[in-house]
Amino acid sequence: MGAKIAVVGSLNMDLVVRAPHMPIPGETVIGSDFRTIPGGKGANQAVAAARLGAEVTLIGRVGDDDFGRAQLRNLGELSIDTTHVVVDSEAATGIALITLDANGQNSIVLAPGANMRLTKEDINAAQGAIVWSDVLVLQLENPLEVVVHAIDIAYAEGVKVILNPAPARSIPKETLAKLDYLIPNESETALLTGIEVADLDSAKEAAERLREEGVGTVILTLGDRGAFLSSAKESVHIPGYEVEVVDTTAAGDAFVGGLAVALAQGQNLAEVVRYANAAGALAVTRLGAQPSLPTRQEVEEFMKGRS
Ligand code: RIB
Repeated sequence: MGAKIAVVGSLNMDLVVRAPHMPIPGETVIGSDFRTIPGGKGANQAVAAARLGAEVTLIGRVGDDDFGRAQLRNLGELSIDTTHVVVDSEAATGIALITLDANGQNSIVLAPGANMRLTKEDINAAQGAIVWSDVLVLQLENPLEVVVHAIDIAYAEGVKVILNPAPARSIPKETLAKLDYLIPNESETALLTGIEVADLDSAKEAAERLREEGVGTVILTLGDRGAFLSSAKESVHIPGYEVEVVDTTAAGDAFVGGLAVALAQGQNLAEVVRYANAAGALAVTRLGAQPSLPTRQEVEEFMKGRS
């Protein structure tokens, strides 16, 4: 049986251009290779988990428009259950304007549209899917009170909760205490703790601070340096894999999806993080959000012969 994963999150269409460098205010830069690519942190994490072999259900909102229909078609082709993706006739599907520089780094402007109209009632309607899952995965591209409500339901029902606090926002203390896993990157960690993650010592300090707030396990992502894992049993740096960077978009989503799948399968935590690192590394070697997310076979091949 595959892992059963429910995701509450965003669906965006990513409008991507390459540019020789990021424009400064007032500057026009001539770019190239415009593409529309399905994205959104919620949909990306759902796709990441499905490609790695999980049964996935996604809870979210799109507009009644071509971008929304394209997203639903794409998710359907991956057998992701979209019964609880509400089609909202009063808002547009979320879009992300993404500029990719020559080094594959991105800058993103988000117009969340329907994602910010997700309601507590939408979550209540999807309660069965949350209870069905082994793990509930969430991010912060929906209204905070709705994310909090979904976490409350999962907590009350004994479903494990993974929160990827992206984009960075502060989170109520009582919610932090209900999280089994929190997966922030360096800037999200700085916002949540006030600690700038400059090295492994500061990563450890920040992760421990979050655990003191009541989070079960903190996994701080460190880009190409891998991740720092802090649980009740261990505090350990798990190095990343060296790869050629094409596009960093959705690397964090691949990591979270990989982590959710490996956790639901009961691997030990250090192994879980290694698996998630591999999924993230493969995602940066390819262009775009959802098309870059690796399959289970690709991750297993990649990990062979690498420690
Ligand atoms: O994490 C990457 C995603 O962030 C992109 O796909 C974009 O839609 C934004 O939500």
